[in-house]
Amino acid sequence: MKTVVIVGSQWGDEGKGKITDYLAQDADVVVRSQGGNNAGHTITIDGEKFALRSIPSGIFNPNIQNIMANGMVIDPKQMLEELDGLVARGVKNFKLAISNRAHIVLPYHRDLDGAYESERGNRKIGTTKRGIGPTYADKANRIGIRIADLIDPVLFKEALENTLPVKNMELKMLGLKTYTVDDIYNEYIEYGKRIKKYVCDTSVLLNDEIEAGKKVLFEGAQGVMLCIDHGTYPYVTSSSPTASSVPLNTGIAPRYIDTVLGICKAYNTRVGEGPFPTEIEGDLATYIRERGHEYGTVTKRPRRVGYLDAVALNHARRVSGVNYLSLMLFDVLSGLKTLKICYAYELDGKQINYVPATISELERVKPVYVELPGFDEDITKVTSFDELPENAKAYIRKVEELTKTKVAMFSVGPDRKQTIQLVDLFNASSK
Ligand code: GDP
Ligand code: IMO
Ligand code: MG
Repeated sequence: MKTVVIVGSQWGDEGKGKITDYLAQDADVVVRSQGGNNAGHTITIDGEKFALRSIPSGIFNPNIQNIMANGMVIDPKQMLEELDGLVARGVKNFKLAISNRAHIVLPYHRDLDGAYESERGNRKIGTTKRGIGPTYADKANRIGIRIADLIDPVLFKEALENTLPVKNMELKMLGLKTYTVDDIYNEYIEYGKRIKKYVCDTSVLLNDEIEAGKKVLFEGAQGVMLCIDHGTYPYVTSSSPTASSVPLNTGIAPRYIDTVLGICKAYNTRVGEGPFPTEIEGDLATYIRERGHEYGTVTKRPRRVGYLDAVALNHARRVSGVNYLSLMLFDVLSGLKTLKICYAYELDGKQINYVPATISELERVKPVYVELPGFDEDITKVTSFDELPENAKAYIRKVEELTKTKVAMFSVGPDRKQTIQLVDLFNASSK
């Protein structure tokens, strides 16, 4: 078995894009299985920076089959702009397949996303306003429109005729402008024409690749703490970024998932609203935010910053079956006198080692920390574990101990080259 699922094990933006691109050098297939252009995956190759939104991070390698699977919500307009942007920058030879079963984001989804956020007032989620939630809601409500409809003029018109009366009622209720079938049809049918050549049953394609022994990477989006089921609900996204969701979202057997690599920053960030137990503010937060360039790829919002949270990482390990970790942005921590890792929460005077289900409890928890001495050395040029300063090595060992998970990789800068791999993940034991 040669499949590796890359899972965000915190609140997103852990460096999934960078690691997918790195491991893709030795892979045959890269699959995005959920989310859409709420994701922003930054990849730096020889100093050149790319920010991918809905296109898989294997796109730079002409030998890789990239797949956008059925569990994604795809904004055809944005996706084509993204593709055109890549082509304009010289990314021309690529293999891309798009699932006919993926749902599409239409203009009213974006309008509704914004309106629901305004309606919530100070309880707003802080969404990316890309229409992700309303598109998944339509899917669950069985009034969604899929790629298979978009590429067929008859089906697309019919789908719009069936859906728009309901959506227009909702739009009217919120004081938003309504749409006629033609408003959307005339523009989007053109996108459908362009997308058609990439569209197929990606489950068939992917199963064939796996059964032929190909190396497959599943590129997660968001992070486990943003999972609709296991995250800090309702301050979450509308899909499940866990490894468990991959078989459903791609149309493969659960037994085809071998290794799960949890991507985790050496500290923690969160963008958007909602509880964040290890959050820090003031000079220390500013130091980390500036060194880590912690501003959203999609919305440019400053990211909230916190200490590493092993309670949340253990939650990710349990609900997503993480069996290795990749520790990211390790270089950002250099220069700090003391490093802290949260290993338990205190809730109403009692120590707990799980993530409570309710927001009111999560807002009350107080992190319990272990403290380690920091390191001053610049580690951005380190190429092996042995080259790390002793205190940095000790930090990695402590992360492994507190999460019961081996650190298989670590990263000391944004570039592809600033990656140190300690375990051959395509041939790793899944135990
Ligand atoms: P993703 O959404 O999980 O793919 O992560 P993002 O791309 O949104 O955010 C991660 C940010 O950290 C990007 O700006 C990366 O270029 C950057 N990055 C990744 N790894 C490292 C690292 O080891 N060190 C530093 N300094 N930056 C990194
Ligand atoms: P990547 O793949 C970080 C957050 C939003 C908001 C919540 C819901 O780059 O790690 P949504 O637009 O999905 O309805 O927003 O989820 N969010 C992310 N935060 N990284 C992401 O993706 C995110 N995708 C969504 O900020 O709090
Ligand atoms: Mg991101």
